[in-house]
Amino acid sequence: MTGTDINYAAELLKQGKLVAIPTETVYGLAGNALDTEAVIQIFEAKQRPRFNPLILHIAGLDELKKYTTSAPEQLLLLAETFWPGPLTILFEKKVIVHDIVTAGSPFVAVRVPRHPLALQLLRKIDFPLAAPSANPFGYISPTEPAHVEKQLGEKIAYILDGGKSEVGMESTIIKWNSQNQIEILRQGIITQSDLQMVASAPVVVSQSKDVEAPGMIKSHYAPSKKMYYGITEALLMSLQSKKIGVMTFKNILQGKNIVHQEVLSAGGNLHEAASNLFSALHRLDESDAEVIITEKFPEQGIGAAINDKLIRGSVN
Ligand code: TXA
Ligand code: MG
Repeated sequence: MTGTDINYAAELLKQGKLVAIPTETVYGLAGNALDTEAVIQIFEAKQRPRFNPLILHIAGLDELKKYTTSAPEQLLLLAETFWPGPLTILFEKKVIVHDIVTAGSPFVAVRVPRHPLALQLLRKIDFPLAAPSANPFGYISPTEPAHVEKQLGEKIAYILDGGKSEVGMESTIIKWNSQNQIEILRQGIITQSDLQMVASAPVVVSQSKDVEAPGMIKSHYAPSKKMYYGITEALLMSLQSKKIGVMTFKNILQGKNIVHQEVLSAGGNLHEAASNLFSALHRLDESDAEVIITEKFPEQGIGAAINDKLIRGSVN
């Protein structure tokens, strides 16, 4: 069931049930993070491997000390600056945070979402919410209640409707690394240069090949149709026998076997493109197209974050 009743959502969560919640990034599949039964249900509903840890959503920075030990000043400064907002930070956890949430890691990922309904809900309950994106594992993330309903509707007690997610892309994830740097584990709308403007420690993008944030494994964010990423003209040529769905940044492509086209921002605005990305992929997946082709975005800032998702969702 979908609706806007925050009290009902809070009640269900208190009973250990799952509720899909709106956030400014994507919809989350939320449960009481301190209740291991609820956390297990999250993994099961998503068919998510247990080695992939969950983000803790809290109502405000002052809640942080309940769940984490003392943290580097630089991380706290970034939390103060960007919370509520699409930044997730890894902190050393206290024992109250169960190992199942962090997949055995001594670090827990935390963020304060900025969607007003999510914040109101978090203020009504006295526990943090564990919430991964509300999609089946590996599939495109949901940015509208209808996406959640279609993919996971039967497994969730309630979908709290907060409209279309404003940012449309998952939060940026950072940690403090052993070289005293701020390391970006997952790129998002808050970019390396946004972080560097605030932090005095160097901000670096993770080069690690280990699956440190398993959202970084290849074959993520994938539509069910094959998606090809690269130079669209060349892809159009090589896929001439197929009905093609196209996704571009700002230009319309010509081609007689194009059956569906999504332009993410006609005006060339990367924020707008990011916020349309997943909903466009959902529409392409539902269209008549047999395959999807998508172009490479300008490789800086938010464009790099978009490319990262497209590479992980594509087959080539
Ligand atoms: O914007 C978002 O972050 C959304 C909304 C709902 O808040 N949530 C989200 O959650 O994207 P999820 O579970 O789909 O992605 C969380 C990512 C995963 O790649 C996970 O591996 C990583 O965060 N992560 C969580 N806890 C971690 C930890 N303790 N250490 C390293 N990576 C962690
Ligand atoms: Mg996810």
